[in-house]
Amino acid sequence: MELYEGLLSRRSIRKYNPEKTLTKDEIYELIRAASYAPSAHNKQPWHFLVIENKETLKGLRALQPWTSFAKDAACVIVVCADMEETFNRPKEGWNYAQIDGALAAQNLLLACHAKGLGACFCGAAPMPMVIEGLREKFNMPETMLPVAMVTIGYPEETPKVPQDRLKKDRVYFETF
Ligand SMILES: Cc1cc2nc3c(=O)[nH]c(=O)nc-3n(C[C@H](O)[C@H](O)[C@H](O)COP(=O)(O)O)c2cc1C
Repeated sequence: MELYEGLLSRRSIRKYNPEKTLTKDEIYELIRAASYAPSAHNKQPWHFLVIENKETLKGLRALQPWTSFAKDAACVIVVCADMEETFNRPKEGWNYAQIDGALAAQNLLLACHAKGLGACFCGAAPMPMVIEGLREKFNMPETMLPVAMVTIGYPEETPKVPQDRLKKDRVYFETF
C-alpha cells in the first residue's frame, strides 16, 4: 500500500474476527514499525505490553470503559513510555512521554492498516484512573506511562471513508 493512500484510508476498526490470532513474529513486525517513530532526542523510551489472553482482553473494559470491543481482538498492545527514559526536565516537571508514546501508537495503527489488520487507538494517559489501573494490574513500574491501548484484529467491518478532512480555513501561512 502506498503510504499517502494508507494515511488517508486508515480508520478505527472496532469489530474483529474473534477466532483469528496473530503469530509472535507478526506481533514483533508491528512493534518494529512502532519503534521507528520519532522520539524526543531519539530516546526511544517505549515499552509494549502485549495482551492476548481472552479473559484479560474481556476485563480491560473495567480499566478503560471504552474498550468493550477488545474482547474480540487478536491482541491489545499497550504502548507505554518510560518517563525517566524519555527526554525530560525533572526540575521543570515535564517530559515528552505522552508525545513519544502517541507517535509510536500512530505508527502501530498504520502498520496494522498496511498489513490488512484493523486497529483502534484507545486512550490511557492522561486519565489518572486508567494509568493507575493498568499499572496495578500489569505490574508496571511507577515510571511507566501507558499512553494507548491499541486493539488489533482481523477486521469485520469496513467503515465509510469520511468527507475530506482538510479544512483550508484552518491553515495559516506565515501568521495566524
Ligand atoms: C487520544 C485518543 C483516545 C481515543 N480513545 C478511544 C477509546 O477509548 N475508544 C474508542 O473506541 N476509540 C478511541 N479513540 C479513537 C477515536 O474515536 C477515532 O480515532 C476518531 O473517532 C476518528 O476516527 P478514525 O480513527 O476512524 O479516523 C481514541 C483516539 C485518540 C486519538
